[in-house]
Amino acid sequence: MNQLFRRKHYNESDQPSGLLRVLGVWDIVFFGIAAIIGAGSFSSLGEAIFRGGPGVIILYLICGFACGFTALCYAEFASRIPTAGSAYTYAYASFGELIAWIIGWALIMEYSFGNIYVAFSWSDYFTSFMERIGIHIPDYLSCSYTEAKKAFLAGSENKELLNAWTTAPLVGNLKIIFDLPALVINGLITWLCYVGVKESKNFNNIFVLLKLFIILLVIAVGIAYINTDNWFPVSAVTGESSFMPTGFSGVMSAVSGVFFAYIGFDALSVLSEETKNPQKNLPRGMIFSLVFCTIIYIILTLVLTGMIDYRRFDGVGDPLSFIFETSNANIPWMEFVVSLGAIVAITTVLLVFQMGQPRIWYAMSRDGLMPKKFMEIHPKHKTPSFATIITGLVVGVPILFTDKSFILDFTSIGTIFAFVLVCGGVLLLPAKEKLKGRFHLPYINARFIFPVFFLGGLAFFYFWQPAFFQNLLDWNDVNEGEFRVSVTFFILINLVLCVMAFARNLSLIPLMGLSSCLYLLTGMSHNNWFWFLLWFAIGMIIYFSYGFKNSKLNKELNGDLD
Ligand code: ALA
Repeated sequence: MNQLFRRKHYNESDQPSGLLRVLGVWDIVFFGIAAIIGAGSFSSLGEAIFRGGPGVIILYLICGFACGFTALCYAEFASRIPTAGSAYTYAYASFGELIAWIIGWALIMEYSFGNIYVAFSWSDYFTSFMERIGIHIPDYLSCSYTEAKKAFLAGSENKELLNAWTTAPLVGNLKIIFDLPALVINGLITWLCYVGVKESKNFNNIFVLLKLFIILLVIAVGIAYINTDNWFPVSAVTGESSFMPTGFSGVMSAVSGVFFAYIGFDALSVLSEETKNPQKNLPRGMIFSLVFCTIIYIILTLVLTGMIDYRRFDGVGDPLSFIFETSNANIPWMEFVVSLGAIVAITTVLLVFQMGQPRIWYAMSRDGLMPKKFMEIHPKHKTPSFATIITGLVVGVPILFTDKSFILDFTSIGTIFAFVLVCGGVLLLPAKEKLKGRFHLPYINARFIFPVFFLGGLAFFYFWQPAFFQNLLDWNDVNEGEFRVSVTFFILINLVLCVMAFARNLSLIPLMGLSSCLYLLTGMSHNNWFWFLLWFAIGMIIYFSYGFKNSKLNKELNGDLD
């Protein structure tokens, strides 16, 4: 049993040399925006609005809080070992091999599967841009097979998807529908990573400014087109005008799209070794960037839902240019500028994720948990060449067989799960010696505060959304079935956490992170859970059949290191 939790020890001498403490709080904020704002704001916002209506801003707030607490836990985690690394490295030192493997496995979801979604969204903007300059890419070559099929079977109003299904050429009985631009961009990015494109801080800064410019432009131009009636459409649930036309469960069903827009901030914790006065600047920088992004997302949602009825966002992957189409606000130059800017901005997100993945595999392979081949460095390009090609395949092949919403759910559930482990893990860490210049998570005793927060929140919710609770208790109402099970679980787990907080004086920040991430998981459908657990099981099989035996640590402990 102890073998599963064998831990890797790092020495102070492992401290990466040459890392200078040069980053101030605003540098962290800038890095934060670079990592956070991407396909989530440019793309998944459309799906989120379609599911939850204008009320989805509440979910942006909830996700912002959950990510804020988690970010602090990541920073604590990072400060525990002297070397810079990813959550995988930290977990190996703090919680041992099995949890490290699980986190590494979940990170594959975050990076590789996340990139499938980003590639799909790149393609949406690319197609819309080409259309504007008079080049039409056939609909059956610019969406995924499953997406078109689903739209057709569900009687969706999305013209492109329906058109793709009805006009696709046939080979035998099979309709030829696939997302060609997504495949091509993945190939190009993989090639760039293979030959070793250099990350350049200056380029990075220009791209961040470009992203912000586009979003602020959309807000500035769009604001004039807001019709406030659109914020209170007739609810499908009650038949009355409502800010949450699909009910609170509708809002919660948008969790994947909303959460995806926040993914990336976890990368900030790796900057702790390069930050001046990290104790102060790191948490501030992380929280500022999360607050900033949350505000931007909320304003953007209000502008989009004010301009157009939320139902029109069904299947829309390029919402920021869609709102300026002829059938909507009809501002062709905006459609042009936004799609062009989005293509560039999203390309940088693809690049960062695609470069990150092989490096995680590299670390896992160095520890013996993955085959040695993943460590192979290209003699000329000096890149992890094999791991880069595998990443290209892991992103590219599913582009043919999956669709955006499936991938979005899959990525988000995996990442939230990793966050749950990190927050839960930080709760279990022993107190550490306070070293000057390192980050320390402030300890606030949760003994009374957490139970008051949780029970108070529950009571507030009960008065704010009585219908929600009634539906929850109405076991004959099958519509709420999935949500009911998850929420019931959530409440039970939190009651246990209240007791533990009281009995063990738990630390408030990781506890709030754990509780809020668990809450986000309640928005996941049973289907999401099924696929996630399958992925998890595959990870376990690989670990026990390969990593457990071949782990370098195992060999070191048993003295048979070759
Ligand atoms: N938050 C990142 C994005 O939206 C993953 O692209």
